[in-house]
Amino acid sequence: MTTPTFPTLRPRRLRQNATMRRMVQETTLSPADFIYPLFVRTGTGIKNPIGSMPGQFQLSLDMLAAEVKEVQTLGIPAVILFGIPAQKDACGSDNYDPHGIVPSAIRVIKEATPDLLVLSDMCFCEYTDHGHCGVINQPGADHYNASLPEGYLLNDPTLELLGRASVVHAQAGADIIAPSGMIDGMVGGIRQALDAEGFTHIPIMSYAAKYASNFYGPFREAAEGAPSFGDRSQYQMDPANSREALKEVAIDVAEGADMIMVKPAMPYLDIIAAVRRQYSLPVAAYQVSGEFAMIHAAAANGWLNLEKSALESLMCIKRAGADMILTYFAKDAARWMV
Ligand code: PBG
Repeated sequence: MTTPTFPTLRPRRLRQNATMRRMVQETTLSPADFIYPLFVRTGTGIKNPIGSMPGQFQLSLDMLAAEVKEVQTLGIPAVILFGIPAQKDACGSDNYDPHGIVPSAIRVIKEATPDLLVLSDMCFCEYTDHGHCGVINQPGADHYNASLPEGYLLNDPTLELLGRASVVHAQAGADIIAPSGMIDGMVGGIRQALDAEGFTHIPIMSYAAKYASNFYGPFREAAEGAPSFGDRSQYQMDPANSREALKEVAIDVAEGADMIMVKPAMPYLDIIAAVRRQYSLPVAAYQVSGEFAMIHAAAANGWLNLEKSALESLMCIKRAGADMILTYFAKDAARWMV
């Protein structure tokens, strides 16, 4: 028997008009797929535009209620919070201060929009004076370990602080904790800390496969969290590796992650697809600041159509296997889709 081919097969039959194309469309995109990142800071009346991320702002707490009501009205189910604290210190204490910037923002949002889910990005880089994602090995500083190199991120002391901050965020009303520091044992450590305080119902979305990516560039301006020395390749993944991503995901699943994330998204679609194939947990992908900025920059030059390119990028991230997308395009995309 011969396999039918042209002229028997004509794939264009199913592309002949919009209704036919819609009927056979395999992937769909909806505002319910999005998680919108928000940058919150101290002060009043502040709506600071982030230069490298058109249409994105750092907002003070009094500006938040209007923002989250708009997000909810657009049908977006969740926001994720990044805080810019008034004071930074060696251990990022603002992150576990009940009156710190993110716990305060969580309370404001839960009051304004109780049904909007609040994810708390659980990491220390925005709160430490050295800009790294946890406690750093420095002579004279807490937890100094002479056996480890200077400047090394101290894993286990960081775990304790992650647990402590997660409990504070849960007490403030966070619905989901999203550890993003690529600290070994972070999911298990946070699970244990939450459970010990009775927060057994709070899910963990782990940034399980997070790469040491240059595409985070604009975020450093947005969150004022660039490392003061070195980079994050001691703890985030090497862009060259994909088997290692599956190992990272396996560890986080074993530690109790409820959802897993791959980050960035578009240059890492192969990773999203591989994770989707191997795991049954919900998979999120983070379309990061640099991906957003690139599309905007090209559109500003007249080289790309902003709306169509942004929607295509989001559709492709879903097609690769993401159930949810963290994206700065969330609000615009929700408007474009109606
Ligand atoms: C914190 C964190 C970063 C991003 C999200 N959480 C920065 C980093 O790891 O350097 C990047 C998000 C973006 O670029 O949009 N660890």
